[in-house]
Amino acid sequence: MTVNRICKIISSNFVTKDTFLMNVAFDEIPQPGQFLMLSKPDGLMDPFLPRPISVFDWNDGVLSLLIKIVGKGTKMLSETMPGEKLRITGYLGNNFPDTTGTLLCIGGGIGVAPLFYTAKISKAAKKSFILGFRDKSSVFMEEKFRELGEVTITTDDGSYGLRKYPHEVLETLFGKWFEPSLICTCGPLIMMDFVGKICEKYGITELYKSYETSMGCGIGACLGCRINTPGGTFLVCKEGPVFKANRREK
Ligand SMILES: Cc1cc2nc3c(=O)[nH]c(=O)nc-3n(C[C@H](O)[C@H](O)[C@H](O)COP(=O)(O)OP(=O)(O)OC[C@H]3O[C@@H](n4cnc5c(N)ncnc54)[C@H](O)[C@@H]3O)c2cc1C
Ligand code: FES
Repeated sequence: MTVNRICKIISSNFVTKDTFLMNVAFDEIPQPGQFLMLSKPDGLMDPFLPRPISVFDWNDGVLSLLIKIVGKGTKMLSETMPGEKLRITGYLGNNFPDTTGTLLCIGGGIGVAPLFYTAKISKAAKKSFILGFRDKSSVFMEEKFRELGEVTITTDDGSYGLRKYPHEVLETLFGKWFEPSLICTCGPLIMMDFVGKICEKYGITELYKSYETSMGCGIGACLGCRINTPGGTFLVCKEGPVFKANRREK
């Protein structure tokens, strides 16, 4: 269900130097992988567009969002204090599918955000995570993910966890015993492309990628989130943000 509403911020706390967890009062129950458009209560945010942010978690009317500061809009959101209000439009977009078998979630940086709730409400018998970060100081929410299943952390510089990229860990798993029935991934495009190639190599077809492209409207009106792919041209906000891998890559 999509609503457009002014919502109260319950809390907002930094989890790393540039990423914060914001809790907002929001009654509707999300689907895994969906997102919302956030803006100031008057509907504006310098430079006048709302910003798309994924559902990180939802519990009894409290929506949790993990937000990384990259520019003006996310900086403004980080400066919004508990008790203040935001305009939120959501939920938007499609969702990750589910499995009763083995779920593997592969996240890179802030791309781990939509994977927590996805795994939390999944009926999967086994849940595993490969989460990649730049360095030790960028790692967040490790303990939350550990509550749900097995977690492998990687860092680019090896300052914490394994000194590998997430797709490299994936390849070592396939070399052993691992047979995931569903893989959900979100993060930098290059990471998701490598994950796609490895899945292709091992004949895994149930791979779903979530795209965090720039967005203007979030509702299919501005064409700002268009992606051109060998499989066709898609609007991430309307036809995504989740795409089955072979729909995008021939
Ligand atoms: C479906 C969806 C879900 C998302 N979920 C989250 C989330 O849960 N948490 C989160 O922190 N972010 C998420 N994002 C990304 C977030 O929307 C952008 O980081 C944000 O809109 C940037 O706004 P800004 O005003 O701070 O930066 P701007 O001033 O607009 O841009 C600052 C810099 O960041 C780059 N940039 C802007 N938008 C993006 C983008 N989407 N991807 C990569 N680079 C970008 C610009 O090129 C520029 O260099 C999501 C995006 C989508 C489409
Ligand atoms: S963000 Fe406007 S069409 Fe997708």
